[in-house]
Order: sequence, then structure tokens, then C-alpha cells
Amino acid sequence: MNNIFRFFILKYIINENSNLFFMNKKKLKPKNIKIKIRLPRLSDAKSCAEMVNSLVSEKAMISLQKKVTAKQELSYLKSLLKDIKNKKQISYVIDFNGQVMGMSGISLVNDNIQSHIGDIGIIVCSRARGVGLGEKLFQKVLTQGIKKLKFKIVKLGVFVKNKPALGLYKKFGFEKIGLIKNGVSYYGKYEDEFLMVKYIKQ
Ligand SMILES: CC(C)(COP(=O)(O)OP(=O)(O)OC[C@H]1O[C@@H](n2cnc3c(N)ncnc32)[C@H](O)[C@@H]1OP(=O)(O)O)[C@@H](O)C(=O)NCCC(=O)NCCS
Repeated sequence: MNNIFRFFILKYIINENSNLFFMNKKKLKPKNIKIKIRLPRLSDAKSCAEMVNSLVSEKAMISLQKKVTAKQELSYLKSLLKDIKNKKQISYVIDFNGQVMGMSGISLVNDNIQSHIGDIGIIVCSRARGVGLGEKLFQKVLTQGIKKLKFKIVKLGVFVKNKPALGLYKKFGFEKIGLIKNGVSYYGKYEDEFLMVKYIKQ
């Protein structure tokens, strides 16, 4: 997608969602937009819960299928920040005018013989999709994961029906290495899952 097209979509998203940012619509101009990719903070708990719950409401094809409270998100963020400090995980969020609109991370596979392998995941709020933010976030997490945690292999699981995610992973050079029939549970039924892997060239 070219940059001019992305810019116009971005403008559209912002105008359509100005209430999301608790701003006066008239005051909202593109120059007011501040989008950052940054580390998560404990103060993101409420915003993260809103983002996760919006994905649960749309029945996104992710492992989280139950709404969370800000309190639950706070304890998740506490353990996440501890893991980041202990170099067991890398995680970044998309900060869109102060609101968390996406999150991605790589965590160490919890096994001594696989400490060179990371598990990656990503979510972007539906209102912020399709303008290149997911790609920027994924790029940041991947490069930082390789640089700081020295992963040699990054792996993931994705619903076979999740075309946007498959497109993103393919763009980053992930290869399909397997298919698990009925490998994931999705709101009471089973769906097929692809396993994908990216070997990091040193
Ligand atoms: C997958 C997801 C993170 C993509 O985020 P995004 O911000 O919309 O992606 P971007 O706009 O940065 O697009 C990056 C690439 O992803 C792919 N992609 C994005 N949307 C797509 C779509 N609707 N169909 C096919 N490919 C798509 C394309 O390869 C795109 O590159 P291109 O613009 O050069 O074609 C987002 O759709 C999402 O969060 N979905 C719900 C949660 C989820 O499924 N997470 C993954 C679980 S495994």
C-alpha cells in the first residue's frame, strides 16, 4: 500500500474515532496526531483492557476469547514488565494519542533446551488496522527480539482462516511448517491452525 493512501486512511480513522481519544472533534487535526511505538507501562492497564475487549467483541481469531478487567490487565502488565526486565520477553505497544491501539511481543519458549526460540504474537485494534501500524510494530518487536534476546528462531501459530495475519507473517518471511487440523478452539468449535517459523540469519 502506498504512503499517500495510508495517510488518507489514517486521517479517516482519526476523524471517525475522535471520541475514542476523548478529544473535541473540531480540534482534531492531523498535526495533533501522535503515534508512538513504545514499551508498555502499568498505566496502560485500562487502555489495554479496552483494546483487548474490543478484539473479543469482534471475535478476533486470537487465543484471548474472554473479556478482561483493567485489574486483570494490570497484573498481566506487572508480570510482563518483570519478564522484560529479566530478558525473558520483548514487548511494544502502539500509542495513538495516548490510547493503546496495538500490542506485540516475543517471549522465550519456557524450556532450557529451546532458549534460542521465541514465540511471537500481535494484535491491533480494528480501528487502527490497514495503515501500516501493525507492520511497524511487528518490525520493532522482531528486530529488538533478535538484538536483545538473540533469538535464532521465531515461531507462531495462526488460524488458517486469518488472512490478514497470514499476509503479515508472509511479508516478514515466516514459512508455514505445519498444519494442525482442529488445532485451536474458537468459541466452542475447533479450527485449523498453521504453525509458522522464521529462521534468523546471523
Ligand atoms: C494481523 C494484524 C495485526 C495486521 O495489522 P495491520 O495494522 O492491519 O497491518 P498493516 O496495515 O501494517 O499491514 C501489514 C501487512 O499485513 C498484511 N495484511 C494486513 N491486512 C490484510 C488483509 N486484510 N488481507 C490480507 N493481508 C493483510 C499485508 O501483507 C500488509 O502489507 P501490505 O499493506 O503491503 O499489503 C491485524 O489485522 C490484527 O490485529 N488482527 C486481529 C488480531 C490478530 O488476528 N492477530 C494475529 C493473531 S495470529
